[in-house]
Amino acid sequence: GVPSLEERYEESFEIGAAVEPYQLEGIQEEILKHHYNSIVAENVMKPINIQPEEGKFDFEQADKIIQFAKEHDMEIRFHTLVWHSQVPKWFFLDKKGEPMVEATDPKQKRKNKKLLLKRLRKHIKTIVKRYKDDVDSWDVVNEVIDENASNDRGLRESPWYQITGTDYIKVAFETVKKFADEDAMLYINDYNTEVEPKKTFLYNLVNDLLEQGVPIDGIGHQSHIQIGWPSLKEMEDSINMFADLGLDNQITELDVSLYGWPPTPAYKTYKDIPYSEFERQAERYNDIFELYERLDDKISSVTFWGIADNHTWLDDRAEQYNDGVGKDAPFVFDMDYNVKPAYWKIID
Ligand code: XIL
Repeated sequence: GVPSLEERYEESFEIGAAVEPYQLEGIQEEILKHHYNSIVAENVMKPINIQPEEGKFDFEQADKIIQFAKEHDMEIRFHTLVWHSQVPKWFFLDKKGEPMVEATDPKQKRKNKKLLLKRLRKHIKTIVKRYKDDVDSWDVVNEVIDENASNDRGLRESPWYQITGTDYIKVAFETVKKFADEDAMLYINDYNTEVEPKKTFLYNLVNDLLEQGVPIDGIGHQSHIQIGWPSLKEMEDSINMFADLGLDNQITELDVSLYGWPPTPAYKTYKDIPYSEFERQAERYNDIFELYERLDDKISSVTFWGIADNHTWLDDRAEQYNDGVGKDAPFVFDMDYNVKPAYWKIID
């Protein structure tokens, strides 16, 4: 076999992968055991899967990942307690079944806010109590900044925000803190954390929350990046800026797309991708891991948003913008789980 990624970076940070429960067998199981010491659920721990109906918690799929991680002594990142996407609609309906966001009466609005925060506390408490001994890092809130929001703080105007302001963020962190293991780390996770205006919006929000005593331990940088974007300097500045606030940094959803944004023109199939693209990608992987390693006292883990090129959410993106056809190849393992040039660059 080839050298282990996890061993290569043992002195620096954890190496993780996002998985679906069905990936925990066969070749993928072997790769996970050999190369990774951290794991995260690609989908099954999101609100829509954990509590699809009010009061009906379903932990079956999530438990599979927790069990696997425990058997193989891997760290666990929990993704994600709060998000505006993949959240069931019932959270935001009042007792009569009316959308809370449509309320105009101040008294009704107050009732809605109270009910939503109560549901939020219950969701978090139930999950955290169940997994407190297993989870090392919690994505408490995901993507609460929206650089295109119409307010001047860049706060995402999701139903969470429309109904509670920023209180949902505070309540979420406080509730996790109350029930989690005392060593557990609590993260605010987002994409485009390296670039303006997201970076400054996020910084200002986190700074405010910290001043209010909200227990945030670190920033999760999703890092859905491209071969040529963002720049290494932007990445480095972002890590340093949050570290200077006293926070940890984790790279939580790394993938290196072959494409720009929107992802076009796309290669239609894997075979259409020229080898030179993998070499170009390998240079990029070389540079970013060199950076991560240099900043390793400020970065506690690096997680890929998948294992190998046969399974990546970026394909949905490539297809979406290209009349239903397109293939991306963002990882260091190829379609058949063989190592790519990028793997050798980050092992060396
Ligand atoms: C994605 C999953 O990879 C897809 O399978 C799913 O259809 C949509 O969500 N940011 C996040 C992740 O925080 O939860 C998203 O995962 C990718 C973008």
